[in-house]
Amino acid sequence: MLCNKLNEFLTEHEVESRILAALGLCVAVSLYGLKWIRKRRILKRINQEKKRRDMSLQLMEKLAEKFKKQNPGVDSRRILSMSLQELTEKLRDGSLSPESVLYPYVKKALEVTRDTNCITVFMNDCETQLQEVKKQKQKGLLYGVPVSIKEHVGYQGHPSTCGLVQYLDELEEEDSVIVKVLKKQGAIIFAKTNVPQTLICYETSNPIYGLTTNPHNHTKGAAGSSGGEGALIGGGGSILGFGTDIGGSIRLPSSFCGIAGLKPTPNRLSLHGVRPCVDGMLAVLLCIGPMARDVDSLVLCMKALLCDEMFKLDPRVPPLPFNEEVYSTSQPLRIGYYETDGYTLPNPAMRRVFLETKKLLEEAGHMLIPFKPPRTEYMLNELYMKSLFGDGGQTLSEKFKNNIVDQRLRDLCLLCNLPKIVKKILAFILKPLRPRYALSLSSAQGASCVKDHWKQNTAVEEYQTEFIAEWRKLNLDVVLAPMLGPAFNPGYPAKLLSAASYTMLYNLVGFPAGVVPVGSVTQTDEEELKNYKGHFNDQLDKLFVKAVEGGLGLPLSVQCAALPYQDELCLRLMKEVETLHQNKKKKA
Ligand SMILES: *[C@@H]1O[C@H](CO)[C@@H](O)[C@H](O)[C@H]1NC(C)=O
Repeated sequence: MLCNKLNEFLTEHEVESRILAALGLCVAVSLYGLKWIRKRRILKRINQEKKRRDMSLQLMEKLAEKFKKQNPGVDSRRILSMSLQELTEKLRDGSLSPESVLYPYVKKALEVTRDTNCITVFMNDCETQLQEVKKQKQKGLLYGVPVSIKEHVGYQGHPSTCGLVQYLDELEEEDSVIVKVLKKQGAIIFAKTNVPQTLICYETSNPIYGLTTNPHNHTKGAAGSSGGEGALIGGGGSILGFGTDIGGSIRLPSSFCGIAGLKPTPNRLSLHGVRPCVDGMLAVLLCIGPMARDVDSLVLCMKALLCDEMFKLDPRVPPLPFNEEVYSTSQPLRIGYYETDGYTLPNPAMRRVFLETKKLLEEAGHMLIPFKPPRTEYMLNELYMKSLFGDGGQTLSEKFKNNIVDQRLRDLCLLCNLPKIVKKILAFILKPLRPRYALSLSSAQGASCVKDHWKQNTAVEEYQTEFIAEWRKLNLDVVLAPMLGPAFNPGYPAKLLSAASYTMLYNLVGFPAGVVPVGSVTQTDEEELKNYKGHFNDQLDKLFVKAVEGGLGLPLSVQCAALPYQDELCLRLMKEVETLHQNKKKKA
């Protein structure tokens, strides 16, 4: 019946319908063509950038070889094995020249990046920086120290891409404040390191520079988002570096790559000139902080940065110099601790090193007091995630538009693009089947109006108050917490965003937090992992086992935290933990 009518209509209007069909086809073809052309253009731009990077790495090789030829007597191995403390002393007293430190590091960094793919660009103005540094009348605290920085930390003449093609041609007009202060203190910035696309993932991969792997085992991930830094420093190719952290991005790669890292109190170090991951989101704040082989290096770096120069360059940073008195007190600490946050149960390896650390601290005379962060599930989904996706993911979604989306971020991108109503319906359907997935879906809906948004901010503030009240009730100085590790197998971080609740907590409450390596995975840990059920024994807990399995020998860490602006006290606990473990190792 309907077909007959349609047939009649078509024969009557044959010419018109043919024209219409042809037009439709034309539109479809040109739309597809446009998309194809755009994709080709993006791929071409990416290829150009890859070539530029190859050239950059070739320059590293050339300079390192030239130096070696001209200075055959320099003992690179010895220089590379020195601690930052020793190195800075030798550089300052003149027994080592800045060149004799920089070039061995350039050579080593090249080796590490060939293994792990961690460097995005070598700073070709190193020579100029060397000359500038040598002109310094008063040698800075980091005189002659080669330093690496995360890709989105602004450096003059270079783009800060966050792994996004659209930023490749936006070259920074000036250095970020942190780079300016580092240079003032005599540091030589020699490389930028890789990040995940948009930075919202703890696996470092993007369509421009590719995937960064773990320096201890290339089949494992380096975490992220400061994964390039983690791999470079963990592999020995840099002695001091800078990462940023909005949910664990300094602490996770530090833990996975076996180094120390500090996420300071928000705004303790200037973020001016660093491209944010989610623009305009203020409920949870991005922080920039140091990553290095040991805690002493982090301390030296904080001392160097917390100076008048930074306070002058960025008047929004509170003018608080490093508090040596707080850092070097020796009275016993009141340390709060928790074995699990109640959401992701630590795997046996993570649990073992945590309990060992707790015991060592107790034996050293500190007071360990059970402490439970309130309502982790609520904190994670209702507060952290809901704040991060306060706009329903629109800002992120725009960054992905007309772009090649990294394979690891496809699900996140899809989630950001889903209309609110679809998220709502999906969350409703999934609730009985996959309650923890449903929670993350509903937290990604975003605020519907300003009032809603303010309500969200109020809830975050209330949680902070509650958290501080719990802390105060026990009269704690610091907290010892478990830390995610060992390094995940590739592909899992994007599926297990919620496992980062251990680190996200300290971003949400705005406390300084750092990680220290304390051991490595044993065969017994691996055996025990087979019986891991988690708190829920659900899909996510099963994925978690798959993420961490096969980690024999990989580094493990613990996390230390302190109240806001007590970064020095946080570092003190970190130093204590590091020393106790070193002493234990010596005795064994
Ligand atoms: C790296 O990890 C893989 C997968 O777990 C494992 O099979 C391999 O033995 C490890 N390699 C090294 C050098 O430890």
